[in-house]
Amino acid sequence: MEHINVGLVGITGYAGMELCRLLSMHPSMRLTMACSRAEAGKRLGNFYPFLEGLPGADIVISQFSTEEAASKCDLVFLAVPAGTAMKMVPALLRADLKVVDFSADFRLNHRPVFEEWYGLPHEAESLLPEAVYGLPELYAGQIAGARLVANPGCYPSSVILGLYAALQEHIIRTDNIIIDSKSGATGAGRKAAVPSLFCEVSDSFRAYGLPRHRHTPEIEQELGKIAGEAMTVQFSPHLLPMNRGILSTMYTYLRDPAPTPEEIHEVFRETWKKSPWIRVLPLGKLPETRYVRGTMFCDIGIVPDLRTKRLIVISVIDNLCRGAAGQAMANANLMYGLPVDTGLHEVAPLF
Ligand SMILES: NC(=O)c1ccc[n+]([C@@H]2O[C@H](COP(=O)([O-])OP(=O)(O)OC[C@H]3O[C@@H](n4cnc5c(N)ncnc54)[C@H](OP(=O)(O)O)[C@@H]3O)[C@@H](O)[C@H]2O)c1
Repeated sequence: MEHINVGLVGITGYAGMELCRLLSMHPSMRLTMACSRAEAGKRLGNFYPFLEGLPGADIVISQFSTEEAASKCDLVFLAVPAGTAMKMVPALLRADLKVVDFSADFRLNHRPVFEEWYGLPHEAESLLPEAVYGLPELYAGQIAGARLVANPGCYPSSVILGLYAALQEHIIRTDNIIIDSKSGATGAGRKAAVPSLFCEVSDSFRAYGLPRHRHTPEIEQELGKIAGEAMTVQFSPHLLPMNRGILSTMYTYLRDPAPTPEEIHEVFRETWKKSPWIRVLPLGKLPETRYVRGTMFCDIGIVPDLRTKRLIVISVIDNLCRGAAGQAMANANLMYGLPVDTGLHEVAPLF
């Protein structure tokens, strides 16, 4: 196959915008269909001036139809809200296309859990068993053979990568975990909403969605698989007055007898030594969102506190790249047998 032809539904959203940026630099994926209801009929380069002169600029934005997708695409990225993707996926799969879905529609394994937390009936329950959770470091083999990948949520990506080593190696207890996460404002999407206005976000800081943010069951499901037991966590998201980035601070209890800080650090280093996107910082160093901006990196800092018997883990990711579009592209790479990092060699611009 010379090129992998891809479609993107939700081209005008923040996650879609980030995928447009990444696709324009991918050596073997070519954008052939770009969909939005509100902007249909416009030339993509006019809508996104940053694309001018680059691949994809001359595409005319269209209203989504399975027929167009079937005639122009091998794979479709769905960067649309929860509840929308499930209406599109069955027909796309019947048309023999592969799908990477950014929404939560296929992330939760059990329909009642989805319906309880999202307040929507699930319209494609029969596809839940075959959807693969798209975290490349954990599930690369299954992703490679999948036709439907459920791209993880942004907060869950930061949390699962941050806690994986400690849970897998049984360093921490599985109870009483508190996850305190902060996100930049693009995490809420581009739709017009008063809480996202500049004056509501700028120069202030607030928690939201407590104690039942929708990412809670996804975090519990995936951490539970790593730990090998059902888990309940306290998840508290916050909105930061910046555009992009997530920082999650996770407070856990060390198991008795606690390893030394150096031993804990070694476990983290050893766990991730073959995963170039996961950077475990030296003891005493803490991660910052600016060093992962626009990239696939997840930087992890660990703070063993033997006085309080806690292990504090701090992880940072970019919500739009690692937390959405970049991870989706990494999954698509795997689905076509390409190296997972094809087109994803970004280094963070600091300013
Ligand atoms: N933002 C993040 O950091 C982030 C991170 C991880 C995952 N996600 C997930 O990625 C998806 C997109 O998020 P986003 O932040 O980019 O949202 P967004 O900025 O609000 O954009 C949503 C996109 O979906 C389209 N859309 C909305 N309703 C639609 C419908 N009924 N049918 C077809 N298209 C529809 C919109 O375009 P039109 O209205 O013009 O059709 C728009 O292009 C969501 O499921 C979100 O949970 C986002």
